[in-house]
Amino acid sequence: MTSALVNKQFRLAARPVGMPKNSDWSVTTEPVRDIVDGEIVVQSIYLSLDPAMRGWMNEGKSYIRPVAINEVMRAGGIGKVVASKSTKFAVGDYVSGATGVQNYWVGAADDKTAAFYKVDPKMAPLPKFMNALGMPGMTAYFGLLDVGMPKAGETVVVSGAAGAVGQTVGQVAKQKGCRVVGIAGGKDKCDFVVNELGFDACIDYKGGSVKDGLKEHCPNGVDIYFDNVGGEILDTVLTRINMKARIIICGAISQYNNTTPVKGPANYLSLLVNRARMEGIVVFDNAARFPEAAAEMGKWMAQGKFQTREDIVQGLDNFPDTLLMLFEGKNFGKLILQVAQE
Ligand SMILES: NC(=O)c1ccc[n+]([C@@H]2O[C@H](COP(=O)([O-])OP(=O)(O)OC[C@H]3O[C@@H](n4cnc5c(N)ncnc54)[C@H](OP(=O)(O)O)[C@@H]3O)[C@@H](O)[C@H]2O)c1
Repeated sequence: MTSALVNKQFRLAARPVGMPKNSDWSVTTEPVRDIVDGEIVVQSIYLSLDPAMRGWMNEGKSYIRPVAINEVMRAGGIGKVVASKSTKFAVGDYVSGATGVQNYWVGAADDKTAAFYKVDPKMAPLPKFMNALGMPGMTAYFGLLDVGMPKAGETVVVSGAAGAVGQTVGQVAKQKGCRVVGIAGGKDKCDFVVNELGFDACIDYKGGSVKDGLKEHCPNGVDIYFDNVGGEILDTVLTRINMKARIIICGAISQYNNTTPVKGPANYLSLLVNRARMEGIVVFDNAARFPEAAAEMGKWMAQGKFQTREDIVQGLDNFPDTLLMLFEGKNFGKLILQVAQE
């Protein structure tokens, strides 16, 4: 019997204009229904808070359908199976999948949208499966290696350097023998990526000019730019790229809360002059190859060559304010909301 369990849920109440507001959410509670054959109940433990969630709140065509009004907000999660009538998962298994912003997920164990798979807390602490060993890590790994095609000695620049994707991009590029320059907001984040993660340099875009920083730290130009932020930073990097440079369009967080049209790069003719390439990526396209990437990064972690930082905030009720941290640069590492104990 699971009906004694109470499920609190954050639902999308309105499509935000600019930054999401508290009134864009509604909170509902309902008992967890009893399950039938083939179904499971997953108790959420960690919820992954991602910049992409802002895009999912908008109407319009994208790589995934928008969250509908009154629907439980979509989110990746790691949880524990607390009831099972499926042979796929047993009670006590830890799973990763799209649990949504709620305490309990209920449905078919093989639900394609939730896409649950087992994670092993003995292999790595569970939050790591939301960072380098999860979606952001896969984005970084395949975006950099498949689209960036780094060669030893090349210069790689990555924005959002202290964030979930950025941390992994820089460390994978170091493993491939590249010179790595991060761009991040603030001295603490810059110190972290240089002193803890081993980047060669980091430009504090809040404390000085990105253009001057690129001149100083990329004296031989930029061969690969992994763009997490878009806007003015993308435009500035475009002025410093080399012949045949590769620019990976991973995200444009500086534009997600715009109330005016997205600002495209004014300096795009630099692509023509330098016979360079700009290419977008969507992490899910590489799903079949995730185990290969997780195995390689897991090996580097075990060898002490690779580390990640998570920023874990407590409490489901804090979801609306915690999500905003991403757009205010207040998260330091992969942003995770813990909603239950392991
Ligand atoms: N294409 C894909 O499949 C895919 C998958 C995952 C993520 N992404 C994208 O990758 C990017 C990074 O995601 P993440 O999960 O790793 O987030 P994150 O970097 O951990 O967190 C977001 C960071 O963005 C920076 N930021 C916020 N507003 C900014 C602005 N106006 N200008 C410059 N930087 C700003 C902040 O860092 P600072 O303090 O340094 O400013 C903030 O901490 C996002 O654009 C996301 O949408 C794409």
